Amino acid sequence: MRKLFVLTLLAAIFFKATAQDVPLNKGWKLAVGDSVQWSSPTYNDQHWATVNVTQSWEQEGHPDYNGFGWYRIHVVIPSSLKEKAFLKDSLRINLGSVDDNDEVYLNGKLIGRFGGKTGDIVKGAFYGPRTYTIAANNPSILWDKENVLAVRIYDTGGDGGIYGTNFSIGMADVMDHVSVNTEADFNYGERNSLSKSIKLLTTNHYDYKGKLAFKVTDPETNAVLYEKTNDAAFTGGKPFTYTFEIARLEKKSYAITYTFTDEKSGKVLTQTETTPYLLTPYPSAKPKINGADVFGARPGNPFLYLIPATGKKPLVYKAQGLPDGLKLDAATGIITGTVAQKGTYPVTFTVSNKLGSKTKEFTIVIGDKIGLTPALGWNSWNAWGLSVDDKKVRISAKAMADRLSAHGWAYINIDDGWEAEQRLPDGKIATNSKFPDMKGLTDYVHGLGLRMGIYSSPGPRTCGGFLGSWQHEEQDAQTYGDWGIDYLKYDWCAYSEVTSPNPDLPALKKPYQVMRGALDKINRDIMYSLCQYGWGNVWEWGAEVGGNSWRTTGDIQDTWRSLSSIGFNQDKAAPFSQPGHFNDPDMLVVGKVGWGPSLHNTHLTYDEQYTHISLWSLLSSPLLIGCDMGHLDSFTLSLLTNDEVLAIDQDALGKGASRYIKNDNYQIWVKELKDGGKAIGLFNISDKYQTISLDKNDPALKGFTKFRDVWQQKYIITTGKTFSAKVAPHGVMLVKVSE
Ligand code: GAL
Repeated sequence: MRKLFVLTLLAAIFFKATAQDVPLNKGWKLAVGDSVQWSSPTYNDQHWATVNVTQSWEQEGHPDYNGFGWYRIHVVIPSSLKEKAFLKDSLRINLGSVDDNDEVYLNGKLIGRFGGKTGDIVKGAFYGPRTYTIAANNPSILWDKENVLAVRIYDTGGDGGIYGTNFSIGMADVMDHVSVNTEADFNYGERNSLSKSIKLLTTNHYDYKGKLAFKVTDPETNAVLYEKTNDAAFTGGKPFTYTFEIARLEKKSYAITYTFTDEKSGKVLTQTETTPYLLTPYPSAKPKINGADVFGARPGNPFLYLIPATGKKPLVYKAQGLPDGLKLDAATGIITGTVAQKGTYPVTFTVSNKLGSKTKEFTIVIGDKIGLTPALGWNSWNAWGLSVDDKKVRISAKAMADRLSAHGWAYINIDDGWEAEQRLPDGKIATNSKFPDMKGLTDYVHGLGLRMGIYSSPGPRTCGGFLGSWQHEEQDAQTYGDWGIDYLKYDWCAYSEVTSPNPDLPALKKPYQVMRGALDKINRDIMYSLCQYGWGNVWEWGAEVGGNSWRTTGDIQDTWRSLSSIGFNQDKAAPFSQPGHFNDPDMLVVGKVGWGPSLHNTHLTYDEQYTHISLWSLLSSPLLIGCDMGHLDSFTLSLLTNDEVLAIDQDALGKGASRYIKNDNYQIWVKELKDGGKAIGLFNISDKYQTISLDKNDPALKGFTKFRDVWQQKYIITTGKTFSAKVAPHGVMLVKVSE
């Protein structure tokens, strides 16, 4: 499926196989389709294809298959499992991850079900790890005999099936429902110290008593910086809290390991995390103007631009050379109005406060193109999924206005989950009860100097099962116009039902052309973001159908595997990046994410998050924050407010970086910039520290004498023939070179 609903509850109690577990990684068979007989232990599945469950059924040769499919495996469940186990009452079956809904049968008996009624397009269906626990005395279990486990899947779209690594049968363990909750923010103290509280939690009534070992290591040297073991006791409803402080840290990530050992059972649980470190310099109190150097709008349409500026408030804004029809609010920096005449208008912005003033040359281009630089904004999906509501959007808008818009962040985009299930009698689209007043909400967002985005799908339904725009495109575009919408993300879901089963290029383009035509009739500049996962090499024709951006991939997840496989595979699309038309490798997964009502800290390490923002900026991607904006911790804020990094993303040349060097340990990506310089990302893709070097005579560097560390915003003194950087595992050194 394309929607990613991570079930945080299950993720938190992600069961690992133990030594004596029976592995279920191999021996599965698959048939797509559906039949009641397929659950039966006597059904002969010998003719079924053997399947590799590390990958989806699409990857196993069922291209773009959505619908039902069955997996079967024959497995002996030895009674020795029970005999050797500390707890003997329940059997646990780990089924990797399921995409989307499933029913599980053991020897013909239904033993578990997930995702609602299988076969429905379930709103809020979950792609995620699946574990079923049944009583050890359940008569369906044939101890020491062959058992048939049959899993019926329903996939709503995109990848489908069961896939992953965690496949096994074992006995439920005392540690199954224990977790180390590391969700609290780190506190930053004086002299580079960090402190934090973590909790040992369980939903069990078993009394856990033992030792918690806490260890901090430097991944560069493997030196142990700090080690301490404490007594720890907890049970259901009574967590154990451990608070620590680590002093005098350098600007890098350290590894923390928490190991709890339960005395009675001897069972051990280990969890790790890394420590944050801030690279972005603290903003000065003096005025500074940030953001892109250029902004495009169409003649005759409402214009809205907030001059992004930092510095101690109050700030006073001025703009010289504004085209006729525009006016600036000197106290807020918001420019509004309408320009009738096409043209390129050079403007000088000035921002002042008690400490001084700063000017910046800026260009307003009134013409046919909008979105001359990639969109910078927030989208509700990676945080809230379908649970987005009016209040969450207002909180996000307020947070953006208070903390981010000074750096150029401007869009507040509502993803799926705002639509009703039925159209109004006149066919108009309506909101559901979570959005009682869309026009009022949009007015609020505009009042903050921000722009408002919305989501739809060309099919009869969206991916989340709400109303899509099929056969109502013009009416919907009109409604968006009436509400004051500035951005439309247009998906694909359910369009498969109304087009040919294997759409050719014209068929892939069609729904986007239809909506483009509808948007062109509206008197608003609506950024048009295509979301069809890169099908038909959309980067080759996204601009032709009028897209300002197009998704080049399936949905991102907050893991290194997802981030790196998406981010480092964008070189094919890079040549198509240009002002007004950008590749979109999907939204950001930094901060607190969750795809639903309950959020968790991104599973990316801090170095991976630096890589994420650096790589996406090099690629000239839209940067759409996907986290809870109401709780931006210091690290996330510093990650999103580095003006020199954002300037690389917003560079007016609009080029996408291309891969320059690739080997097993690192990759170097280079982006040409408007001022003649280059932005270069040295990415360590390995698990160990790497020194990444480039000869100064290499064509990528030749002629450049200045090397700027973009994250730290300072020049690097380099002597010798090579430029070298020591880069953390999965981390980056982002440099800007100039003459
Ligand atoms: C997916 C899309 C996601 C999100 C979701 C909403 O197809 O890739 O980004 O928009 O639909 O249901």
